[in-house]
Amino acid sequence: MIEMFFHKVYGATPDVVVHAPGRVNLIGEHTDYNEGFVLPAAIDRSIDFAGRMRADRVVQVHSLDFDASVEFNLDDIQKDSKNTWSNYVRGVSKYLEEDGYRLSGADMVFGGDVPREAGLSSSAAVEVGTAAFWKALLRLELDPVYLVKLARKAENQFVGVPCGIMDQFISALGREHHALFLDCRDLSYRHVPLRDDVKIVVCNSGVKRALAQSEYEVRLKQCRQAVAQIASTGRAVQSLRDVTPADLESARSALSDILYRRARHVVSENHRVLEAVKVLGAGDLERFGELMNASHESLRDDYEVSSKELDVLVEVARKQPGVLGARMTGAGFGGCTVNLVRQEAAEDFAEAVCRGYHDALGLRAETYICKASQGALSI
Ligand code: GLA
Repeated sequence: MIEMFFHKVYGATPDVVVHAPGRVNLIGEHTDYNEGFVLPAAIDRSIDFAGRMRADRVVQVHSLDFDASVEFNLDDIQKDSKNTWSNYVRGVSKYLEEDGYRLSGADMVFGGDVPREAGLSSSAAVEVGTAAFWKALLRLELDPVYLVKLARKAENQFVGVPCGIMDQFISALGREHHALFLDCRDLSYRHVPLRDDVKIVVCNSGVKRALAQSEYEVRLKQCRQAVAQIASTGRAVQSLRDVTPADLESARSALSDILYRRARHVVSENHRVLEAVKVLGAGDLERFGELMNASHESLRDDYEVSSKELDVLVEVARKQPGVLGARMTGAGFGGCTVNLVRQEAAEDFAEAVCRGYHDALGLRAETYICKASQGALSI
């Protein structure tokens, strides 16, 4: 497909093609920037890149989704305030150059089927895809985790969105039929097999994540404040990762109600991830589903990042036969839910959730029955 589009735009066949998947997070939400644990999976929806080298220092990029082209020079990479979709490509290219990798000019097209602003990490896929593109085009020997960090830096510093590392990590290092258990403190990770008698069903509320960025920043600050206040009670804590439930209870009087609840979400969510990985290994999917449900409640009530639409999707989902667990996924304030559903019930489940959501709110949801897939830089 992408080869064909490249041919359409440039009238030639590309030298390289790479695919970077979107992701869904099974459990471990708003824990990554607290040095905690996450359990995402890469999905079978991707942003695809095709390209060829040029003899000069010009990079020409065509976005299929925006049906627009931009051009930039590798010697002077600036942010583009008009074609903001190109900043992910620019940022990654700039930081590779800054790290001493001399890139060459290139003609590139990219596009795919990860919906934008839906909480499925289309921007991380563009960043990781760009990194994978340069790696393939120039045959660079680059460590995938180095590229993951560079992709996140592009999002944090060049684009200016203060995300954690989960999305870039899973887009790069996902594995077919597996989720990825990641420790966001030391970046050690392990692939955890997913059984194929259950399906991951993603329900897209269709509501763009309007408040996501500003509220995300507020949560980030609240977590830092909670850590500072817990530390002031004499506990040696660097991040909420270090806080045990017992620590939190004994520091409770030092925290405002809001900071206490924010911290309680993160502390309890880290425990849920650890248990989820254990029960997944033991094949106890019922318990895994209960943990997903508890995660949603905690995000809704303590962390307050859910929305009416996400809550309705979850409520409707939990009434359907074959569902094991349902929760919002990603940053929140719109976007998607993730549901674990017995394979034989998955199709009916997807239909019933769309119907129930429409009946309750008059809105149209989209559903994707996903397969856990290979990352762009998986070895
Ligand atoms: C967004 C961010 C991630 C992570 C999630 C919440 O997807 O990009 O780093 O913080 O929100 O878990």
